[in-house]
Amino acid sequence: MIVDLHSHLLPNIDDGSHSYRASFQMAKEAVDNGISVALMTPHHMNGQYVNHKSDVIRLTEEFQSQLDAENIPLQVFPSQEVRITGDLLQAIDADDILFADESNQYLLLEFPDDDVPTYSKDMIFKIMQRGITVQIAHPERNTKIMATPSILFDLIEAGAVAQVTAGSYVGNFGKKVERFAEEILNHNLAHVFVSDAHDLPNRGFEMAEAMVKVESQLGRDYQQLLERNAEAIIDGNNITMLKPEPIVKRKFFSKF
Ligand SMILES: [Fe+2]
Repeated sequence: MIVDLHSHLLPNIDDGSHSYRASFQMAKEAVDNGISVALMTPHHMNGQYVNHKSDVIRLTEEFQSQLDAENIPLQVFPSQEVRITGDLLQAIDADDILFADESNQYLLLEFPDDDVPTYSKDMIFKIMQRGITVQIAHPERNTKIMATPSILFDLIEAGAVAQVTAGSYVGNFGKKVERFAEEILNHNLAHVFVSDAHDLPNRGFEMAEAMVKVESQLGRDYQQLLERNAEAIIDGNNITMLKPEPIVKRKFFSKF
């Protein structure tokens, strides 16, 4: 059973699917990738999209009914991809945040693409003080983390969990992102693969391909650990975290 903890299949509410028809096609591709359970994680509070908890729950229930009617064997559950903002703690306290699991253990947190705001560490600490584990979305595509990988190492050391997008790992976002995704996994700085599927054919699943690649590069035990961790997160259980290692950036010496 492959669990996908991050996808944008709900139609017409963010930059993901733009129609039920597209959502059904994506759901079929998810199933073809071996995925049987998927979290619906529309963007929330990212400056462009607001998708309140109650709306996501209702839309996910509707989508499940439609999937069942179409005989597509995918189970979907409501969640959110939450942007880090100064309002996040209030939103958690106001019960407007959806987690990856029913026990409200794992929160999917997104940074801006090109930044990790200076208040992030402090805010993540405050979130974790509430007994919540932060899951960092796609660190391999964050240009600030690419330039300063120790930011990610420090967050993982502090107890955060990270997701790598399967498409990043198989090269869909270019060589640089692919190499950095490999570095992240090589240094035990990520714990699950997710699709972060938005649309077809550009932002699909690639989960099966990523699993094959990670098995060939890092072995079957590592691949299975990633798969089991996704199941543990959706069940609100502890995951297996291998000892994180810092990514040491290669130094370039100029020739004299
Ligand atoms: Fe996403």
